[in-house]
Amino acid sequence: MAASIAIDLGTSRTRIFVPKKGVIVDEPSVVAIEPKTREIIAVGDEAHEMLGRTSKRRQVVFPLLGGMICDYYLIENMVRVFLKRARRAKLIMPKAVICIPGEVTDVQKMAAINAIEAAGVRRVHVIEAHIAAAIGSGVEVKNPHGSMIVNIGAGTTDIAVISLNGLVSSNSVRMAGDNMDEEIIKYMKREHKLAIGKKTAETIKIEIGSVLPQVKKLVFRSKGRDSITGMPKWVDVHSEDISKILYKIADKIITKISNMLELTAPELVGDILEDGVFLSGGCAQLSGFNELIGERTGLKVSLVEDPIYCVARGTGYAISYMKCASRSKNFGIIDPLSME
Ligand SMILES: Nc1ncnc2c1ncn2[C@@H]1O[C@H](COP(=O)(O)OP(=O)(O)OP(=O)(O)O)[C@@H](O)[C@H]1O
Ligand SMILES: [Mg+2]
Repeated sequence: MAASIAIDLGTSRTRIFVPKKGVIVDEPSVVAIEPKTREIIAVGDEAHEMLGRTSKRRQVVFPLLGGMICDYYLIENMVRVFLKRARRAKLIMPKAVICIPGEVTDVQKMAAINAIEAAGVRRVHVIEAHIAAAIGSGVEVKNPHGSMIVNIGAGTTDIAVISLNGLVSSNSVRMAGDNMDEEIIKYMKREHKLAIGKKTAETIKIEIGSVLPQVKKLVFRSKGRDSITGMPKWVDVHSEDISKILYKIADKIITKISNMLELTAPELVGDILEDGVFLSGGCAQLSGFNELIGERTGLKVSLVEDPIYCVARGTGYAISYMKCASRSKNFGIIDPLSME
């Protein structure tokens, strides 16, 4: 069946969305390769299972960093496998809209389009991540009322102010969930002399993490390698210590949100004061994040429905505009806000 799909190439996960079907692929953006030949061993869930269990003959790589593609060959091969998996939903050589960060260069845009087309997509159009997040959040983008949308993912935080069918301002910050995982790894090494991998750090963050001090104190039993003796060991990690680490990253993200509010026209800030901030992305689910943003900005903050699929949904919405978008002009960028 000829179909059109939306691809949200996220730093931590790739989602393929099909209108009327929903998300049909949601797998880690990870590839396992043979380091010398760069032969692909596994992708997605299978490759993620191997994370932290690498050897001389097997390396696990994230082909996106901070929302940007850093290895086009791996992206092409990863997307090819995901499309094969999506074919169980009977999709053959579909057309696709892909979502990319707003500030990528023309060369990066072209390389991303070429990689996805080489993976087996007939024609690729592009939507900017800020716009996809705004549309996917379900906020009323058509009216003259201003809204603020913040998508906190793994590699980037996208902040946008939308009004009157247009993007008023936007900012993409390379600070999100992955930075929190890295800080947990450093903390474990520094304070507990325990070497842990990214997977364990992420589990600690999700299981006991909060950006605000919690009334209920939680403990996570972490295993890892003693960084002095090299022997395996267990360490009890306390939520109040993790909370301090996560707060520092959250604080930097909130400063960027405040900076954008300071630069926004007073009428629009008034609108945002009424409606509040719409929060999406996986990391936005972190305990206390919406309360902390609310506390610091004085705004009401709401987590959108299915926050992890917000960008994929918004990218999917752009599919119906593919016919009106010219591929020869501006890399086939679709901006449904200005095309309404
Ligand atoms: N329940 C949760 N609580 C806290 N953090 C979470 C939760 N679920 C996922 N995350 C974190 O959210 C991040 C992934 O979010 P998301 O899927 O939106 O990112 P992405 O789209 O892959 O990345 P990006 O948009 O930055 O390129 C990861 O850092 C993950 O650890
Ligand atoms: Mg994302």
